[in-house]
Amino acid sequence: MKLLYEGKAKKLFKGPQKGTIVQYFKDDATAFNAQKKDTVIGKGIINNYISSRIFQAINQTDIPHHFIKRLSEREQLIKEVEIIPIEIIIRKVAAGTICKRLGIKEGQVLPNTLVEFCLKNDELSDPIISREHIEMMQLANNFEMETIISTAFRISDFLTGLFSMIQIQLIDFKLEFGRFYNSNGFHEVILADEISPDSCRLWDIKTKKKLDKDRFRRNLGGLIEAYTDIANRMSIKLPELNVEK
Ligand code: C5P
Repeated sequence: MKLLYEGKAKKLFKGPQKGTIVQYFKDDATAFNAQKKDTVIGKGIINNYISSRIFQAINQTDIPHHFIKRLSEREQLIKEVEIIPIEIIIRKVAAGTICKRLGIKEGQVLPNTLVEFCLKNDELSDPIISREHIEMMQLANNFEMETIISTAFRISDFLTGLFSMIQIQLIDFKLEFGRFYNSNGFHEVILADEISPDSCRLWDIKTKKKLDKDRFRRNLGGLIEAYTDIANRMSIKLPELNVEK
């Protein structure tokens, strides 16, 4: 398969049909804009299974997305989109960079769900940007931004419900959107990328144990165990991971 793009945790290959892509999940873990790097054997497989299941669940809504089907342990078939170079972050509880930036205590429930935007640019370390920056840089037009924001809030409600059913609290998450072009040259803005414990903060509702990539970021250990716990709670049957305990 022809490699089209290699990111920090995924590779994209040309898909079998026109307008399709194969998204391959690697075991590489990075944090703090790749200043911290490691390989966590099996992580890519679990993320592929969890993200596939979440996108399938989103089919219960009318939210358009890129996911077609999971092809193998590490691969999924997706629709080809032009990624909009903005990361949309939704926060319900304070954690991570908002605590560092604004001095808010981790775990504080935010009075309202917060939306933030970051520029997708590794060289600049994905800086936080405002809607005015997005407009000034012409990264997305107003209509696209309204679609992105309203969809992100709908995903937030959907994921909050989905995770609360399995005793997990959704703290925050990151989404990416892309332009899906039809044969007439018109496009629709659709949800893309992945939704996994790499891109969401997920805490056990009762114990507040972190079940997400913060286990790697903060050297807490037990990342595979935490991701497997999420998969198990979602009744996902994972393949044998060959991970040394
Ligand atoms: O690091 P920060 O607190 O800004 O992250 C907010 C949320 O967005 C977290 O769930 C994190 O996993 C996710 N995120 C991501 N990819 C990035 C930046 C943040 O998935 N490049």
